[in-house]
Amino acid sequence: MPTGLRLVCAISSGSMAIQATRESRDSARIPAAREGVTLNIEAVLLEPASARPMRLIKSFGFFLTHWRTSGFHSMCRVIGERVYIRYQEWWFGIHTEAVIQLNQLKLEHPDRRFYVPTNYHAFAAMLDRLNIQPERDVFLDFGSGLGRAVILAAMHPFRRVIGVEISAELNQVAQENVCRALRRLRCRSVELITADGATYRIPPDVTVIFLYNPFCGLVLKNVLRNIRESLSEKPREVRLICQVPKQSAFEMELQQQSHFTLEREERFNQNVRYLFYKANLGFTSHRTYDP
Ligand SMILES: C[S@@+](CC[C@H](N)C(=O)[O-])C[C@H]1O[C@@H](n2cnc3c(N)ncnc32)[C@H](O)[C@@H]1O
Repeated sequence: MPTGLRLVCAISSGSMAIQATRESRDSARIPAAREGVTLNIEAVLLEPASARPMRLIKSFGFFLTHWRTSGFHSMCRVIGERVYIRYQEWWFGIHTEAVIQLNQLKLEHPDRRFYVPTNYHAFAAMLDRLNIQPERDVFLDFGSGLGRAVILAAMHPFRRVIGVEISAELNQVAQENVCRALRRLRCRSVELITADGATYRIPPDVTVIFLYNPFCGLVLKNVLRNIRESLSEKPREVRLICQVPKQSAFEMELQQQSHFTLEREERFNQNVRYLFYKANLGFTSHRTYDP
């Protein structure tokens, strides 16, 4: 069982604690993420000034095509979304906007999904509707990537926020992002762990688990089993919040699990769906979601 070997303790200012930890490496399960990795994540995230004119031309072409295929209003919406993302990244001082395939990180596997960040607006709206109990609720993001969801969650009064990410490279950038966003955060404890979700032992105080399509197949089965085990060890109320595309294998697999009951589905814009599950181990729920 992993023991949680601490790799870096980046900051400890006042009562704020940020930790980046790597679970004791089980090299059979987690490939040596740094060996042979050619992707320069900073180059992906930080665009050199010389590339800006080309990007502007590309964006212009993209918006024109979008206008032709989907209409003027749709184009305005897409432009608005892009501007909003840029504003949020600037406000937090972070870099999370990218699409990164796992083969670029030498971590490809049929059950693992690539990095794409959650939607700023939709995720924040979803969090606003959670009835968070500051003394009690602990948030866990499986597949935390560059830390966008972790940072947005830490804007809320969770007791602590945890991110579990398989890529050490992504987690390193996530840690830098959390450091930069510190002054905006309300939660005083953020922990970023490099581990395979399939083998990560869920802490007994976790009450809100977020999954944005991070894995499927055997990995998802193992994670769901780990959630059940964590609940059997420490019976409590756990909410599972899944962000899924229209039709996903992820959702189908989850529905086959009798231990999780779908409580509700919410759509915060036409592309972003959230499914709210309740862990169902025989105790009653008193928790409600604000409508
Ligand atoms: C769709 S992204 C979600 C990013 C982040 N949760 C957010 O909302 O901004 C999925 C993430 O899951 C990670 N991932 C894939 N397989 C994983 C595994 N077995 N264990 C942990 N993380 C995994 C990927 O590296 C990627 O960063």
